[in-house]
Amino acid sequence: MSDNIHPEYERQVSPEAKQELLGQRGAVLWLYGLSGSGKSTIANALEHKLHAEGRYVVMLDGDNLRSGINAGLGFTDEDRNENIRRAAELAKLLSRNGAIVILSLITPQEKFRAQVRSIIPQDIYSEVYVKASFDACKQRDVKGLYAKQAAGEIKHFSGAQSTFEEPQNADLIIDTVALTEAESLDAIYTHYKFLTK
Ligand code: ADX
Repeated sequence: MSDNIHPEYERQVSPEAKQELLGQRGAVLWLYGLSGSGKSTIANALEHKLHAEGRYVVMLDGDNLRSGINAGLGFTDEDRNENIRRAAELAKLLSRNGAIVILSLITPQEKFRAQVRSIIPQDIYSEVYVKASFDACKQRDVKGLYAKQAAGEIKHFSGAQSTFEEPQNADLIIDTVALTEAESLDAIYTHYKFLTK
């Protein structure tokens, strides 16, 4: 099958022309961490800040993707792998077209993170670990999922029956137990500026 597929890019408008139109370089910021660690809060705050500065940003959030392009995928290792692979391919495509892509997915294991790194060009890529312990996330329980997990109502829950590995390769760690929301935004914004300067 793959022998009969012929990707072509030469006749399309070049990435350089897209970037010139938008007045920015494409980039990918991949935020990962446990459910409730603060990924989406930080990602959304950064999107608003960059948008207000005139940047074109696309958010890819795990829960949102799972209600659309990734509907039907569950939480086994195999499904998470496919969920994350598709998100990485989308991020690659969008960033090639000049978008600043911010992702928010648990991305719980090193093998998934390695796959992402193998898909997305590294010059425009950064991994951000949004760090909060299982117990801290359980205390917050914004979506009520930790209570459901404790009641045995959720299978393969990240950090419980399903492994969450501490990352070895994060470019930035934001500890949301120690930092306020404003401080977390500051940290990722400074990091983004450094990445794209
Ligand atoms: S990932 O592991 O494949 O990266 P992803 O970020 O897309 O996960 O989805 C996680 C979101 O799905 C959580 O924020 C939570 O709202 C929801 N969810 C539902 N079931 C689970 C589960 N078993 N483990 C973790 N998150 C779950």
